[in-house]
Amino acid sequence: MTLRKTPVDELTEKEAKSELKILATEIALHDAAYHRDDAPTITDAAYDALRKRNEAIEKRFPKLIRADSPSSKVGAAAATGFKKVQHAVPMLSLGNAFTDEDVADFVDRIRRFLDLEADENVEMTAEPKIDGLSFSARYDSGRLTVAATRGDGAEGEDITANIRAVNAVPDFLMGDVPKVIEIRGEVYMTKADFAKLNAAREAKGAKTFANPRNAAAGSLRQLDPKITAERPLKAFTYGWGEVKGMAWETQWEFLQNLKAWGFPVNPRTKVVKTVEAMLKEYNKLGEDRAGLAYDIDGMVYKVNRIDLQKRLGFVSRAPRWAMAHKYSAERAETVVENIEVQVGRTGTLTPVARLKPVNVGGVVVSNATLHNEDEIARKDIRVGDTVVIQRAGDVIPQVLESILAKRPKDSKPYKFPTKCPACGSHAVREEGEVARRCTGGLYCPAQSVERLKHFVSRNAFDIEGFGEKNIEAFFTDELITSPGDLFTLEKRGGRKLLTGREGWAEKSIDNLFAAIERRRTISFERFIYALGIRQVGQATARLLAQAYGSFAAWRKAMTAAHDHESDAWKELNAIEQIGESMADDLVEFFAEKHNREIVDALAKELAIEDFVQPDTSGSAIAGKTVVFTGNLESMSRGEAKAQAQTLGAKVAGSVSKKTDLVVAGPGAGSKLKEAEALGVKVVSEQEYLKLIGG
Ligand code: IVH
Repeated sequence: MTLRKTPVDELTEKEAKSELKILATEIALHDAAYHRDDAPTITDAAYDALRKRNEAIEKRFPKLIRADSPSSKVGAAAATGFKKVQHAVPMLSLGNAFTDEDVADFVDRIRRFLDLEADENVEMTAEPKIDGLSFSARYDSGRLTVAATRGDGAEGEDITANIRAVNAVPDFLMGDVPKVIEIRGEVYMTKADFAKLNAAREAKGAKTFANPRNAAAGSLRQLDPKITAERPLKAFTYGWGEVKGMAWETQWEFLQNLKAWGFPVNPRTKVVKTVEAMLKEYNKLGEDRAGLAYDIDGMVYKVNRIDLQKRLGFVSRAPRWAMAHKYSAERAETVVENIEVQVGRTGTLTPVARLKPVNVGGVVVSNATLHNEDEIARKDIRVGDTVVIQRAGDVIPQVLESILAKRPKDSKPYKFPTKCPACGSHAVREEGEVARRCTGGLYCPAQSVERLKHFVSRNAFDIEGFGEKNIEAFFTDELITSPGDLFTLEKRGGRKLLTGREGWAEKSIDNLFAAIERRRTISFERFIYALGIRQVGQATARLLAQAYGSFAAWRKAMTAAHDHESDAWKELNAIEQIGESMADDLVEFFAEKHNREIVDALAKELAIEDFVQPDTSGSAIAGKTVVFTGNLESMSRGEAKAQAQTLGAKVAGSVSKKTDLVVAGPGAGSKLKEAEALGVKVVSEQEYLKLIGG
């Protein structure tokens, strides 16, 4: 349900009466879904909002408070299937604080109630509020006799056999034990165990749990305790019900007893004396929240002295001496207004959900990632759906699931585009890949800048004095939007266009055009590499240059190879070290008309040298397999590789028995060790240079 909009103080008595009735029914249904069925249908935040509204209306119209008012009840009645257990002392709930002021008010109320001076401190414990399933376990003479869930607070379900299956809850107490004690705490599952359990269930085709709390509850409330025993459940304890034969003066002292008896107590529990100290602990825990192994939903403050707790007593369903200071929900519900596909700098298409803005954990969220095509299909997320989103720390918000009950009747499954939304080129998805990619390459505006940076980089066109920053600025001002533009810049009045720009004195303009002119003649392999075709690095570019000899031959073959029956396709695949997926990327690049236009426009401006088979006679490394490792001082790894290939060597990435020579620079690691183990010859960079006569 959505909250009714009329402000509480504008409601008529009649409206208030009718709304209280609706709220009582709705909250009862949500309580049952949450506590009894472990399958909540709304977020905690939405639930809290319903309760708050109910309380506000009751406050304004006290005489309308219903006999079945949600504010007088805790949780839902016990599910059938388990024996019922009456709690000797009721299991109550806690009042909630959401703001710093609420916390200050809580402490003020206590001071007033106890008639303390305004500056008198009330010592409190501050305990993390574990988001799990509460239980009560009774020990008679130190032996576990019965355990129960909270149920409606007065009566819960008998889960004795299940609790015995939880290792964290001992069957026998250690040390000095009271005659009777009911221990209260929370059973939970760590986030990591929850993820593992869900993955295993998914693999088996079983229904997955929505969150760790539901997983813990579902695991504990099993009619067959053997199933509970198989689930990785943990527990923290923090309270007591009935006690006979022992007493303690403070909550803190009780927590120490719990530890001595063998119970786990949350290690982040502190004793604090002032409101400032309470808030400090709350904020510290909040900062660490995402990194904790388990989910928490707040901090619980409890008056430390038991004598004061007794004086303070209870109001309706909660103690006056304790309060839960909640963290805002990290999950929320909202509507997917649109699904947009973004194109990354490398052409990857990523779907993003545009959301109706919603506050999640104190941050307004209006976008969430949908990861990829398969993820949308798997979760069947559609435009118009009401979805649950989650934000954890600084991570990009995610769409967890669609709430099917709220799906518009006319909704249709989302169809992922097969054309790039940025440039209209084909977007293809290769076998075994999750992402769909735009084939627009140099043409695609989403990828252009990155492609241009690659184009002018050191191993490609290597335009002296022209770096990434220049490319970005020239691209933004549309001076250069495609590689060919670099070589037409001067013709297009580049001198004039650059004059007056910051950092471009006449001398630097001269230098730039001279540098560009020097690169008008380019080796075929550099040209191929500079195009930035996927998977085509320097080594592949060289292989291609070697195999095709000239740009014209290569250009023709790449378009012809589009037909997989053609000789061109077969020849491409026959090149050693060119696999089918690489061949596909090449063919796809040339299948895109925009790319062909760009390549042709560029080629028109250049003199692309044919590949010259190197004369390797007299080369000491011709036919040898060489591996480079560690840092090289006189040249880059890329240069060393290209030079070795020119001298007829094969350059490999890893050392094997087939390796003839390892060139090891400073910092060489495992490859050097392997070479030594295999007895492969190892030389220093200097020795290598001498060997090749450099
Ligand atoms: S004290 C009468 N301490 O939060 C006092 N409760 O919203 C009752 N919880 O029912 C609870 N950590 O299930 C207390 N350190 C803690 C807690 C804690 C988690 C749960 C518990 C309780 C609910 C109240």
